[in-house]
Amino acid sequence: MKQHVGIAGAGSMGSGIAQVAATNGNPVTLFDTNSEALQKAQSSIQSSLDKLVEKNKIDKTQSNFIFSQIKFTDNINELKSSDLFIEAVIENIEIKQSLFKNVEGIVSDNCILATNTSSLPVIAIGAACNKQDRIIGLHFFNPPVLMHLVEVIPSFNTSEKVLTDSVEIIRQWGKTPVIAKDTPGFIVNRIARPYYGEALRIYEEGIADFATIDYAMRNIGGFRMGPFELMDFIGNDVNFKVTETVFTQMFFDPRYKPSITQKRLYEGKLFGRKSNRGYYDYKNSNQPQPSLDGNLHNQIFDRIFAMLVNEAADALMMGIATAADIETAMTKGVNYPQGLLAWANKRGLRTVYNKLDDLFAYYGEDRYRVCPLLRKLALNDEMFRI
Ligand SMILES: NC(=O)c1ccc[n+]([C@@H]2O[C@H](COP(=O)([O-])OP(=O)(O)OC[C@H]3O[C@@H](n4cnc5c(N)ncnc54)[C@H](O)[C@@H]3O)[C@@H](O)[C@H]2O)c1
Repeated sequence: MKQHVGIAGAGSMGSGIAQVAATNGNPVTLFDTNSEALQKAQSSIQSSLDKLVEKNKIDKTQSNFIFSQIKFTDNINELKSSDLFIEAVIENIEIKQSLFKNVEGIVSDNCILATNTSSLPVIAIGAACNKQDRIIGLHFFNPPVLMHLVEVIPSFNTSEKVLTDSVEIIRQWGKTPVIAKDTPGFIVNRIARPYYGEALRIYEEGIADFATIDYAMRNIGGFRMGPFELMDFIGNDVNFKVTETVFTQMFFDPRYKPSITQKRLYEGKLFGRKSNRGYYDYKNSNQPQPSLDGNLHNQIFDRIFAMLVNEAADALMMGIATAADIETAMTKGVNYPQGLLAWANKRGLRTVYNKLDDLFAYYGEDRYRVCPLLRKLALNDEMFRI
């Protein structure tokens, strides 16, 4: 069904979501307070559509039609006819709350109000609104045009109808919805934390350098990028902030403790590819070579993998999402080569459990405590049910 979609924030996410909605036949109003951002959004959507034409994914007529479906505006009142509103402005709770309050007074009572926040509580964003049962999180991944996953996040206030309608809309748009509890990092940004955090810890202890850790995760694990090249790609500013937010919102659970190394890179503006220097120096054509010690590679992979599985098991135990949605989220949201739960089943839960238990015995840190669900299944020779 065709719906009027109103979007606030014409940055990388808002403009991508606008293109997705328009491609699926919906008239879109893209609102931003900054006229330069609106101009940039017009040219980035146009060039994205041009690329799709070049690749024969769509023809020129379709491209023109999609572009004509999007109205760019700096007037918030133009969001009036929205059936679905998606907020994609900067990650600031006060700005988001006041925007939701304003939009509530402009749109009809039936309009769904969604936020694309990565790290703020959905319930808090809508806290200033009068009618909170229509507020939900719709977390798209970057770039929205290419990434299939959308985390759908109902809060305690969201009605069942708004949840089912939102899931249906995401499906109609050709995307894959997964349902997540309104908890820090939702599914992907929570479960993926050890991929970065444990890699940094291994480096900080002097067990291996960046290149060797990256090599191990690519070659033993089959991950597309190693943790350090991935952090450089995401940006150490963005990645550090997500880690810090999850840690703070988890009431300082040591499992999510940020790394001093990454904090220093962030403070020194060594963001990664976008600043030409992060863990690697992108101006230097001689990149560091990994150690070729196979035992070391196995040790690195086993440790990071065990920590990832522990996190996935914990998310399952805590009802953050179903096992099936956890698998979908990690394979489609961050392109993991396999779902972590099925992968752990294949390797044997006892092997994963033993690795974590060894780490816990060696370090005596709460960071390495084994998830009770994983322990129970491993000791009973059972598997995750997916
Ligand atoms: N970039 C990502 O990888 C990513 C992925 C998923 C979710 N998110 C979330 O999506 C949201 C947007 O992220 P982004 O990367 O597109 O940001 P961005 O900085 O590229 O764009 C934000 C836009 O919001 C506009 N804006 C600021 N205040 C506004 C207001 N009051 N009304 C209307 N427009 C306003 C700015 O002018 C800017 O154009 C954030 O909540 C972010 O956490 C980002």
